[in-house]
Amino acid sequence: MKAKIVIITGANSGIGKAATLKFATEGYHVIMACRNLQISRPVQQEIILAANNVNVDLMELDISSFESIRLFCAAFKAKYSRLDILIHNAAYLNHGEKQYKLSPEHIELSFATNTFGPFLMTNLVTDHLQKSQDPRTLNACTTNIKNFFDPKRKIDFDNLRGELQNKQRHSVYKMYGDSKMALLILTFKLADKLKSKGIKINALQINRVKLSKETISKLSPFWKVLATAQNLTNPPPAGMADNYFYICTSDEFRDVTGQLINHKREIVAPSKSERGVEQLKNIFGSGSYPKYAIDIENSEKLWGLSTELTSNFY
Ligand SMILES: NC(=O)c1ccc[n+]([C@@H]2O[C@H](COP(=O)([O-])OP(=O)(O)OC[C@H]3O[C@@H](n4cnc5c(N)ncnc54)[C@H](OP(=O)(O)O)[C@@H]3O)[C@@H](O)[C@H]2O)c1
Repeated sequence: MKAKIVIITGANSGIGKAATLKFATEGYHVIMACRNLQISRPVQQEIILAANNVNVDLMELDISSFESIRLFCAAFKAKYSRLDILIHNAAYLNHGEKQYKLSPEHIELSFATNTFGPFLMTNLVTDHLQKSQDPRTLNACTTNIKNFFDPKRKIDFDNLRGELQNKQRHSVYKMYGDSKMALLILTFKLADKLKSKGIKINALQINRVKLSKETISKLSPFWKVLATAQNLTNPPPAGMADNYFYICTSDEFRDVTGQLINHKREIVAPSKSERGVEQLKNIFGSGSYPKYAIDIENSEKLWGLSTELTSNFY
């Protein structure tokens, strides 16, 4: 049987790099989808040697740019006849960055990178995923979405295209959480839409993993200190990379779709209640996600916006 084909975005560092090594070691054909080829090429060579697998390709992708996604998908499809596994691992997480940044298509950078880019790319490769016997997609989510257990927390739908960029204080940390909540909402919605095509789409609730020196260097002084301290006890990326591998290849998850899965490989359920003792369990446990993620109004709004923003890139 020919090796299964896997795309991993942001594969040059952290969990993405560890996952590339894992898939390559297990004999998969991996495409590292990275924005900086100069930085990523030595990583590709390192993985080819360590995994003893020459089928580790490197292709340019800036997932925050719709045009780059369009070009990447066209180049991928010209080179490969199908896609078995798609892992949206790349993320913009420059915590402490005060400047509101826009993507090339003038969308707030966290949302362009973490939400709308993965949405467009998944849609653009749907036909290639359909050619696989067992197509699976995994979206990297985060425990940060638990902030939505706070009933006041909402996605700022009215500030995703720079509307308030010079009018209010900007928090990349909040935008990061909002964009990952939006990614979760789209995971549920896409899974529903693509079920009839046999494509499975899930999200992984990542809790804590050591950050690379390069990633820490992009954080503000406060976040640098915090991340460096957390790195003392946080586990290395290999464990989470094993979770990527297990969810995307095991028989256990073969028919699972439209789910949030936690770091212990358990299915996370919508919260039963967001009050009292139940709320404490929600906040301190890893078994439930905020009801916000399945609110129909949020879901419809996000789906409409994602469709509208990406419509010129198909
Ligand atoms: N580490 C944790 O504790 C933790 C916790 C919760 C969730 N997560 C999630 O886990 C995933 C991996 O994070 P990590 O910890 O491994 O961090 P990381 O080492 O910083 O990895 C992020 C990757 O994304 C890439 N990237 C960023 N913007 C991109 C763009 N526009 N186009 C293409 N690639 C881009 C980065 O590339 P460059 O090298 O070019 O910047 C890097 O390779 C992320 O989705 C993150 O949100 C991590």
